[in-house]
Formats: sequence, structure tokens, C-alpha cells
Amino acid sequence: MKKPLFDFQIKSRCKTTLARVCSFKTPNGIVNTPKFMPVGTLGTVKGVTSQQLEKTGAEMILANTFHLHLQPGEKIVQDAGGLHKFMSWNKPILTDSGGFQVFSLAKLNKIDDEGVSFQSPRDGKHIYLTPEKAIEIQMALGSDVAMAFDQCPPYPASESDVEEACKRTHHWLERCLNAHKKNDQAVFGIVQGGCFPHLRELSAKIVSGFGLPGIAIGGVSVGEPINQMHKIVRETCPLLPQDRPRYLMGIGTLREMAIAVANGVDMFDCVIPTRLGRHGSALVNGETWNLRNSRFKDDYSSLDPTCTCEACTGYSRAYIHHLIRNKELLGLTLLSIHNLTHLIRFTGAMRQAITEGCFSEDFAPWQSDSKARHTW
Ligand code: GUN
Ligand code: ZN
Repeated sequence: MKKPLFDFQIKSRCKTTLARVCSFKTPNGIVNTPKFMPVGTLGTVKGVTSQQLEKTGAEMILANTFHLHLQPGEKIVQDAGGLHKFMSWNKPILTDSGGFQVFSLAKLNKIDDEGVSFQSPRDGKHIYLTPEKAIEIQMALGSDVAMAFDQCPPYPASESDVEEACKRTHHWLERCLNAHKKNDQAVFGIVQGGCFPHLRELSAKIVSGFGLPGIAIGGVSVGEPINQMHKIVRETCPLLPQDRPRYLMGIGTLREMAIAVANGVDMFDCVIPTRLGRHGSALVNGETWNLRNSRFKDDYSSLDPTCTCEACTGYSRAYIHHLIRNKELLGLTLLSIHNLTHLIRFTGAMRQAITEGCFSEDFAPWQSDSKARHTW
């Protein structure tokens, strides 16, 4: 029998946790999970070329429907031959639907069952997004995975507001699927439900019922206590189909990824590594270092001696400190490259540990608050 275009295989399972090693096939290549995905909102992972990005170990990146619709507009991207060609990235791309960004970034005018009208944060222009429109834009962008258009309620929100957002998200998912006509693009559904277990359960069951090629857990990291997020992941994952990729949206800290992987999550994204990089900070062995700090001015050792990235193999802490102090763009590029490599290596190390049967032992320290973590 011919394998499906979005073939998903579980390669290895941890014996004591729900962690798993999988491969997810897309038209532009395979994603080996667990995997961290860099965020390239506007079709660029800020400060990093696609060639540099490839060397970080990135296999799939994110771009955003909302931002690309505002600028340069999907027509320009489509006429360029699609987003892969436009940004010179020939590996998988996932586009977020704009659901989250509309609710978090734009001045909302009206939300109803039909869609969302808002003012562009760029120029105040009125824009109307519906599930059909979000899918149409993503089909034009030509990503490998398109996310369904959802409503992500803020935190805190009342039970009735979250319930309404949930119902809307499920109706919108159905409309997204009816509007979607592109065989070489997968649509992932998004589970919502805030911090209400019964709404999460209902949402997980309804979204799972569509038989989609992948499912995301959304509506986390919106201001809820971190333990609530862990609980949502713990309780939602078992309700999702085993044989499909699971993507935890907007999460990318080491501890949260280790916990989520132990609960069966496969994919992650987060703006933290590039945002920290642009602010002059580096992720080193579970800590965040500000390279502006004068303690680095004559530290000629490599940024992270355990790291194989371009920044750590070629440049010293003193040099990066010098770049950052002088607002040199290369400093931000090097730190972004390192931070992305750091998170991707971490997910790669989890992958290897699961395969070798030592995940629960090696990554238990990363799941606790304890500082007693060994490097991987
Ligand atoms: N990114 C982070 N969280 C979410 C979410 O709940 N929905 C969408 N569409 N994107 C997200
Ligand atoms: Zn590095």
C-alpha cells in the first residue's frame, strides 16, 4: 500500500514515560521528533539566513498567516513560487493561522461566529479574517502544514467565555476543512479549553474526531500558572490519537519541553531563543546569560564549549560581548544561532535518550525545579 503524504511513524517509545521518537513526513522533507521549531513570523527567522538556520539542525520552521497577509500579502508570496522559494528555505514550513495573533496583537473590533474583524497594527486598516480566509491565505503561502483558525481566550477568562471560544473553534475547524483544497498541505486542528479540564477533554475529543494528520494543544502560555500548563498537557495528551503528531504551541523552555515530551508531545515552537538573542542574551546550560555583562569582556573561551554551533565554534564570549556592547548586528545573529541550536540540540538529545532507553533517567532532572542538572 502506498504511504500517505503525511506519513507518521513511531520509531521508539520510552518504557516508563509517554515519550516517543517519531518521524513526520511532509512534501518538503521529514521532521524527526521530538523537535523544536524556530519561529519565522514574517518569513524570516529574525537575523538568521536560511542557510545558517539549516546548520542549527532546524527541520521545520513556523511562519504566520496574520503577519504575511498584512505584509507583503499572500499574492506576492504565491507569485514568488510559494513561501519556501520566497524565503529560500526548502524544508518543511508550518503556518500558524492568525487566530492567536489576531487575539493577542490587533485592536479587535468584533468577534462573532462568522469571523474576526480587527484593525491592522501596522496601518490601522480594517481587516476581516474568517476560517475560510485563513485557509485561503495559507493555501496561497504554500506551507506544508496549515493551522486551523481558532479562538484562543486570554487568561483568566470565565468558564462561559472559554466554552464559547471552544465551540467556535470547533465550528471553525469544520469550516477550515471544508474550505481546504490542497492535497499537498496538511491541516492541524487546535485543542482549546483554557484551564477547565472538562472543556479541554471535550475539545480534545471533538478535534480528535476529525481524523486530521496532526493536532496542536493551543491556549497555553497565555498567563496561566506554569503548573496549570503542565496539568493541561498531562491530561490532554492521552485523549489525542497515538498515531498523529502532537504540537504544543508557543512553548520552548527546556523544563517545559522535557515535561511535555514525557507526556507524549512531539513538536514545539517559541520566540524566546531569537528574542533573547536580539536582546543580547544566550541560553547556556539551562541559564540565561546577558553578554553585555562586563564579566565577559576578557573571557576568551567559547560561548558554550559543549555547543557545536557557528557562534560557539568560531567566536569567543569576549568577541560577542564586544559586538553586543557596540550594537553590531552580527552579535544578535550569533546569539540567535546559538540559542536556536541550543533548543534544537536539547530536543535532539531527548530523541536520542528515548531511543537508547535512558530518557526518564537522564531527563528527570530537567523536569524538576532542581538546579542539579547535568548537561546532555
Ligand atoms: N500560538 C500559541 N498558542 C496558540 C493558540 O492557542 N492558537 C494559535 N493559532 N496559535 C498559537
Ligand atoms: Zn552554540
